Amino acid sequence: MISKFHVLPKQGMGHATRMMRQLRCFSTPPKYNEGLRRSTGALAALSLGVGVCLGLYISYVPHSSKQVFPLASITPLHELNPPQYGSEEDLKNCIIEIQKIIGDNSVADSEAEIDHHTDNGFNPSKPLPHQKPRYVIYPESTEDVSHIMQIINKYSIPVVPYSGGTALEGHTYSTRPGIVLNTSRMNKILQVNVDDLDAVVQAGVGWQQLNEHLSKQKDMENLMLGCDCGPGAHICGMVSTNASGIGATRYGSMASNVISIKAVLADGTVIKTKQRPRKSSAGYNLTGLLVGSEGTLAVVTEVVVKLQVKPAYEAAAVVQFPSVNDCTRSMASFFKSGLPLNAVELLDSDMMRCINYSDLVTKKFENMPTLFIKIGGLNRIIVEEYIKEVKSISQANHCSSFEFARSAEEAEELFSARKNALYMMLDYGFNEISPDAKMWITDCAVPLSRLASTLEQLNEMMKEYPMQHMVLGHGDANLHYDIFYTPDQYEMCREAVDRMAKLTIANEGTCSGEHGIGAGKRALLETELGEDTISMMRKLKLALDPKRLLNPDKVFKTDPLDENTK
Ligand SMILES: Cc1cc2nc3c(=O)[nH]c(=O)nc-3n(C[C@H](O)[C@H](O)[C@H](O)COP(=O)(O)OP(=O)(O)OC[C@H]3O[C@@H](n4cnc5c(N)ncnc54)[C@H](O)[C@@H]3O)c2cc1C
Ligand SMILES: *[C@@H]1O[C@H](CO)[C@@H](O)[C@H](O)[C@H]1NC(C)=O
Ligand SMILES: *[C@@H]1O[C@H](CO)[C@@H](O)[C@H](O)[C@H]1NC(C)=O
Ligand SMILES: *[C@@H]1O[C@H](CO)[C@@H](O)[C@H](O)[C@H]1NC(C)=O
Ligand SMILES: *[C@@H]1O[C@H](CO)[C@@H](O)[C@H](O)[C@H]1NC(C)=O
Repeated sequence: MISKFHVLPKQGMGHATRMMRQLRCFSTPPKYNEGLRRSTGALAALSLGVGVCLGLYISYVPHSSKQVFPLASITPLHELNPPQYGSEEDLKNCIIEIQKIIGDNSVADSEAEIDHHTDNGFNPSKPLPHQKPRYVIYPESTEDVSHIMQIINKYSIPVVPYSGGTALEGHTYSTRPGIVLNTSRMNKILQVNVDDLDAVVQAGVGWQQLNEHLSKQKDMENLMLGCDCGPGAHICGMVSTNASGIGATRYGSMASNVISIKAVLADGTVIKTKQRPRKSSAGYNLTGLLVGSEGTLAVVTEVVVKLQVKPAYEAAAVVQFPSVNDCTRSMASFFKSGLPLNAVELLDSDMMRCINYSDLVTKKFENMPTLFIKIGGLNRIIVEEYIKEVKSISQANHCSSFEFARSAEEAEELFSARKNALYMMLDYGFNEISPDAKMWITDCAVPLSRLASTLEQLNEMMKEYPMQHMVLGHGDANLHYDIFYTPDQYEMCREAVDRMAKLTIANEGTCSGEHGIGAGKRALLETELGEDTISMMRKLKLALDPKRLLNPDKVFKTDPLDENTK
């Protein structure tokens, strides 16, 4: 489909406005060749006449009589034709043109590099043998990405944006043989605006890289990004999955830590979602649209992120309880009392057993449900007042021990048990279950008041399966129920994970609190939100990426021939 919206991408102001208009008035009609759909024809003609979008629209009326102005607000999967991607020849020509613009050393296709960009090893389901990218491309700037996308669009080649590669649900799989955009060369910190508490970064800057940079500058050492997630993750990946981490209880997820985004659309158009003020009611919230879109709507190339001020004084506490119920009741009371906790992490007794088992930390704990808590403030006196309150709430909820670190080093040591939890679990699985034991990391979230009963139901359900599990939860009622399985238990584990997500959804929860949907949870997303909501997402997707080039087959299906049940 060629319309004036899709050709001649230009750069500069005004493109975000055009992107909004695209969302508002126009989205590609899926089956052009079937003529007018049922009774929509007359209405379509009428709306053309009246001019739904007045004069604006008139100049974009498709000329072929076979094309329909789509009246439906949603795009169900069955109304789509399969996507048409470029041929082998197109792919070759596409690469030649890209090389001409950004240089030979920005394109790679060695076996080692292709393998490196095929799977990160964390995803429970592996990509199929043919699901490999054909080329890896290394852009360095927004302009590079814009040029690349114009050429990719011309040849209709599937493209997967790929940053830190730490996502956990097969987000970066090349389900269609095409191009991977590795953002590692887009790693410049462009501005740090100390007085505004924000930073402008290229999309491939890592969260650790940004924090390290800040910690080394004279007037910035007390600033940091509010989100932390997998080591190695980049800001653009975090934006794209709406990542959280331990800091989210206090600072919110990426959605709360992003001010504005510069991005390249499927046809190469460069847009900016907002200016740089904290406050804005200026037009559609395209920042919010791109956050969590998992590379399916645009390639994020620059981000303005908020910087948070590290507390001048911070203490840590580890509190153990006889039951998970006591833990979650304490958590609820902390929040209701208005305590400004910087982190609250819940570890169940199995997880604590694993920590005790590990020699990665020297400290030993009882095998009981435990809260790891961080609390900060202006100075020691204030923080000690808070700690008193934390202690009294914990005692009211029957805590059996309350340990509180008085120095930064002690706090670091206490919290290291939480920080290393993943590695300790892997270590435990390897030694105690089987050398080829794998861990399936789940990611449900429920309203806090439902946390204890949901956990009880999940534990009850898991008794039906001969697989060990451990639970890690964040203070925002986000549970990682981590299950060990051996390769022969894969199907069984998949069934358990599926039931687990459905049980969470039945408890008014979500199948993904912070990791996203990727290739692994598409069916669950539909269970959670319903077919019509997904069809609305599909409508948005097709409005912005009519050829379905950007990260195909992720979040929801866009190909009616896609028979995968996930
Ligand atoms: C050990 C470990 C611990 C983790 N802990 C947490 C945690 O505490 N909290 C949490 O939220 N997550 C956690 N994660 C998950 C992971 O770190 C996050 O999902 C993270 O946001 C992924 O970022 P990335 O840069 O690695 O993105 P990638 O894995 O490279 O990509 C993620 C998604 O973003 C898209 N994308 C990448 N770059 C762009 C771009 N420039 N434009 C548009 N789309 C793009 C990709 O196509 C993909 O869909 C953890 C992972 C690991 C391995
Ligand atoms: C991106 O490419 C760089 C350079 O080749 C490589 O070191 C890095 O591991 C790649 N990123 C991922 C997530 O594989
Ligand atoms: C991002 O995550 C937060 C916290 O989980 C959630 O409230 C918000 O709705 C999410 N935003 C988007 C745009 O996905
Ligand atoms: C828009 O979305 C972003 C990201 O989800 C969020 O931080 C912001 O508060 C929202 N609203 C406005 C007006 O930008
Ligand atoms: C913790 O591990 C030690 C050995 O490392 C063991 O002696 C002890 O009994 C364990 N504690 C609990 C509560 O399991």
